[in-house]
Amino acid sequence: MLFLAGCTPPEPPAPLTEFPEVSALPERPELPPLFDSFNSKHVAKTAADWNDWRRPQLIALFDHYVYGARPPMVDVSSTRTASYDGLVPGARWEEWDLQLGGDARAVLHVAVIKPLSATGAPPVIVGLNKCGNQSLVADPRVRLTTSLVIPACGTSAAQTRGTQATLWPLERIIQRGFAVVTFHESDAAPDDDEKFATMLRASFRAPEGTPPRASWGTLSIWAWALAHVGAWTATETGLDSTRIAVFGHSRRGKAALLSGAVTNTFAAVIAHQSGTGGAALNRSAEGETIELINLAFPHWFDDVYPGFANAETKTPVDQHQLLALWAPRRVVLVDADEDRWADPDGAFAASVAAQPAWTLLGASTDLVSWQQRLGMHSVEPSDWELFLDALGW
Ligand code: GCU
Repeated sequence: MLFLAGCTPPEPPAPLTEFPEVSALPERPELPPLFDSFNSKHVAKTAADWNDWRRPQLIALFDHYVYGARPPMVDVSSTRTASYDGLVPGARWEEWDLQLGGDARAVLHVAVIKPLSATGAPPVIVGLNKCGNQSLVADPRVRLTTSLVIPACGTSAAQTRGTQATLWPLERIIQRGFAVVTFHESDAAPDDDEKFATMLRASFRAPEGTPPRASWGTLSIWAWALAHVGAWTATETGLDSTRIAVFGHSRRGKAALLSGAVTNTFAAVIAHQSGTGGAALNRSAEGETIELINLAFPHWFDDVYPGFANAETKTPVDQHQLLALWAPRRVVLVDADEDRWADPDGAFAASVAAQPAWTLLGASTDLVSWQQRLGMHSVEPSDWELFLDALGW
């Protein structure tokens, strides 16, 4: 950029350290802007502006007002505990223990499922599973989860063997040349309001100075754990470090979106029917409201976000900006026409409103895709064809 002699370039806006109370925020029926600074008259006009101050500013706003701030990333040490060829046809199933930050209580039990015959390093799908790794296949060799099994899964880990197999059509994913890296969400944080304070939250603290009410909720914890597993996958598994996508359905789609929005760990996201707190706009009239999501799942977000109940137009950030934080990487959104609770139209509108971020960074807006299939809220084996096709890997 050229500056006239005698002029100095304007200083970038200072990082956000103060956040107005919800009651002090203005009503804004239109979507918050992608590029205008929150606390000054600056406008991001270049990739450098975006990376240097606007992206960090948006992350700080989402952390404070919506999801809660996560601790800084920590070191991961890992041990392979088992390896079985052919447990899934055509694949090796490996089991790993990942210890986070040297804390013996903070261990993620990760399953790595790799194609046995691959030309070159395979691309990878990283995702949380709901009921434990043993729920993906019926084979009794898979280690049972020792973390909390939520009632929606069954009364014991053993009872859940193979129960999530249709959501994870591993044989087909392997046939298509992809590897899968997955772990039980309860290893990071159980999806249970009463047990919310256990696991990673017991071991790690939000950054110094974070007000307790803006400290990480479950989605933020899941996102943090996913980012560690993604970074570990890139360096320790021999899989393709440049083609790692994070996948999630519904609440796990919200966590997947957040995980790569606030880090550069993943090359792509597949957010399936992610709804409120995911790809759907707060300002969209349809689907789940901020009030209802916080009443039903008080542990998912921080304690600031419920303040926007029935005041959606006051949110200083909206979900098109969460998508924009993925620029210039690939975003794959899939919804279903009868799944009105997840607000497919609100996700479509967010995907369109996010696209100028790709343009600013010199990337094609084709990298942002939204598709709607017929049917309801569920993961069908055929959805995986949509996901993998849309990745284009
Ligand atoms: C509930 C919740 C949604 C969530 C969904 C799911 O319906 O209201 O926000 O996405 O569960 O995770 O299946």
